[in-house]
Amino acid sequence: MKLDKIGIWSEIKLDIIKEYASAFTTIMRKQDWCRGYAYIDAFAGAGVHIRRKTGELIPGSPWNALEIANPFTEYHYIDIDKKKTEILERLAPENFNIKIYLGDCNEILAKKIFPTLQNKSKKRALCFFDPYGLHLYWETIIEAAKLRTTEIFLNFPLMDMNRNVLHKDLISADPDQIERMNKFCGSEDWQEILYRKGKDLFGDTYQMKIGSNVQLGKWFMSDRLQKAAGFKFVPEPVLMRNSKGGPLFFLFFATYNETGNKIVSEIFNKYRKYL
Ligand SMILES: C[S@@+](CC[C@H](N)C(=O)[O-])C[C@H]1O[C@@H](n2cnc3c(N)ncnc32)[C@H](O)[C@@H]1O
Repeated sequence: MKLDKIGIWSEIKLDIIKEYASAFTTIMRKQDWCRGYAYIDAFAGAGVHIRRKTGELIPGSPWNALEIANPFTEYHYIDIDKKKTEILERLAPENFNIKIYLGDCNEILAKKIFPTLQNKSKKRALCFFDPYGLHLYWETIIEAAKLRTTEIFLNFPLMDMNRNVLHKDLISADPDQIERMNKFCGSEDWQEILYRKGKDLFGDTYQMKIGSNVQLGKWFMSDRLQKAAGFKFVPEPVLMRNSKGGPLFFLFFATYNETGNKIVSEIFNKYRKYL
């Protein structure tokens, strides 16, 4: 199987997650009331990538989460690609409590993982949503938020959005792509944020893009993650760009926990300087 080649922006994303995962378990292991703390990689990949610049192998997010000083008490790795889960199975060390799932994370989280993380479980979890594109459903974010035990990192896939949905005139976008965007955001209101409706000289309707990625990110942060999902804290996301300055994704964090918010805000600010 061909492994993914990743750029510096993905390496920064991996470093951020690893740094926070390490802080998270260091804090959680001192909580006597806590019956366990889980790491969930909902779009896990193969666990290993190729560094685009040098061609060398580098660990992906599932592997990074195993390397931290104080491990999580359980690990849940999901991928829809059988070849990737097979590599994960082969790489998984036996001395960790790791479950690997083949399938759509939206279903697997709802049926198999989130039910074990209800408040009464006295567990906590860190869940990483790292899709290539619009493959995550809003209901899954809502289900994570409702648990109140689970913090999330979310890769908000601007590249897929900009390429396939957010055309200059929305009328020219494929309705199926618009539906993917609605399903990811759980709302059609992004159209109000980004577009102005009107009629041209021939009476034909247009929807012209007037808003920016930053406006979209601000809306998703305050209206969706905070107001609609109910996450108490959502620090300003980090915007990742490619070497030519093109926007690739926002990295969001959302939590109900003040300490988590403080730590991630500091980590984000540290990396923001270099972006
Ligand atoms: C960006 S990669 C993940 C990289 C990984 N988080 C890392 O940093 O090492 C996205 C992965 O999501 C998987 N995927 C796509 N749709 C999915 C879905 N609905 N459920 C679970 N996995 C999915 C793809 O097969 C791919 O391996």
